[in-house]
Amino acid sequence: MEIHSVILAAGQGTRMRSNLPKVMHPLLGRPLIWYSVESARQVSGTKPVVVVGHGADEVRKALGDSVEFVCQDQQLGTGHALWQAEPALRDKKGLILVTYADMPLLTSETLKRLVEAQQSHTGPFTLLTIEVDDPRGFGRVLRGPDGFVREVVEEAQATPEQQRIKELNAGVYCFSSDWVWTALPQIPLSPKGEYYLTDLVGLAVRQGKAVKAITTDDPNEAIGINTRVHLAEAGAVLQRRINKGWMLAGVTIADPASTYIEPEVKIGQDTVILPNTHLQGTTEIGEACEIGPNAIIRDTKIGSRCTILASVMEGAVLEDEVDIGPFGHLRKGAHLATGVHMGNFGEVKNSYLGPGTKMGHFSYLGDATIEQDVNIGAGTITCNYDGKKKHPTHIGKGVFIGSDTMLVAPVNLGEGARTGAGAVVTKDVPEYTLVVGVPARPLRKVEKDE
Ligand code: UD1
Ligand code: CA
Repeated sequence: MEIHSVILAAGQGTRMRSNLPKVMHPLLGRPLIWYSVESARQVSGTKPVVVVGHGADEVRKALGDSVEFVCQDQQLGTGHALWQAEPALRDKKGLILVTYADMPLLTSETLKRLVEAQQSHTGPFTLLTIEVDDPRGFGRVLRGPDGFVREVVEEAQATPEQQRIKELNAGVYCFSSDWVWTALPQIPLSPKGEYYLTDLVGLAVRQGKAVKAITTDDPNEAIGINTRVHLAEAGAVLQRRINKGWMLAGVTIADPASTYIEPEVKIGQDTVILPNTHLQGTTEIGEACEIGPNAIIRDTKIGSRCTILASVMEGAVLEDEVDIGPFGHLRKGAHLATGVHMGNFGEVKNSYLGPGTKMGHFSYLGDATIEQDVNIGAGTITCNYDGKKKHPTHIGKGVFIGSDTMLVAPVNLGEGARTGAGAVVTKDVPEYTLVVGVPARPLRKVEKDE
């Protein structure tokens, strides 16, 4: 059966007290809405339709063409919001799965269960409920003696007796498409002047139709984000969920509470993650690495058997057996080949360091290509910027750079070249030649095995 999905995301989120639209607030590095889109897409297999309104431009920009957008110009309630999706979906057969964008922890498994429940149901829809002690301002679910749902009452309208009901509306629905588009225009205006999607229950009941409900057994799934307190709660739950997944997949996490792994990160078996580590964006880590403590790694690809201690990297590539830190900083375009060693206070930007190259102490390499087995002495700097343009540096195989060398780019050091301590290299250095001084001059040739 065809399954289409609609995500309601037009509300302002007044209770967040923010200039940022609610659904754009980040949760482990992704905007809230990203989570709803991911889980809806996994269930429906079609492009979700996202109803936008408040901050529509920002939401459109964040999601691009991964979804279809419809606009709700005036936020007249959740029922009105779904109605806006009618032109996009009216001709579709099958089922319409509806979720709210402020419920990021719903899993695709639960959504699938809801869809299956509706597939075996002859009534017009099935909704998801949750049983918890803290009502969180959710609508209360009233069931009849036959077990079917009789009504969903919003908290503001609930009588004291109804307020004590523990079964809550999670805000997830699976509708038969034939029914929903004809029903939406019949929703009455609520006392608050909104068209509540939840009033479709009463409407169906008045038509003599049965509304089914299934309950989720994981109360965490129903953490909806209405305030920043909820945002932090959801962040903690998501963090635990992701960390648990990696531990079961063979990754050691010494202190899950201080380990922040974003949802698109990948980690190989037998890698050990030490406390205070943040793995962000599209980072991928191979097998048997030791990461942290205190590592912040974004959009970086790391091979196997690497060691990264107290370092920061973004947009870098590390091959196998690379060892960095403490206090290394790799910036965009840093590429460290197999066996590179980088000690404390090194910074590398847009540069290749060949296999076995060593850079032990406080150095800066930018826009440089460094061949294999090069020794970068303490305090070496590529002076790559002349105030107007960036220039490249090339260092040949087996070069030995003396401490405190300034490499004034553009400059090329031939294979086996050497620089004396404190040299300021302004001209190319021929292979197997030692240069010294300011500006550096050739002193003598060096033997290959010297
Ligand atoms: C809603 C439900 C409530 C349920 C709770 C679960 C209704 C009337 N109430 O309440 O029963 O327990 O969710 O999370 O549905 N939105 C629009 N356009 C609008 C209004 C809202 O797109 O005009 C979107 C919001 O962006 C949000 C979602 O719909 O993502 C839910 O709206 P919200 O105002 O947060 O509803 P709740 O008060 O939480
Ligand atoms: Ca809400």
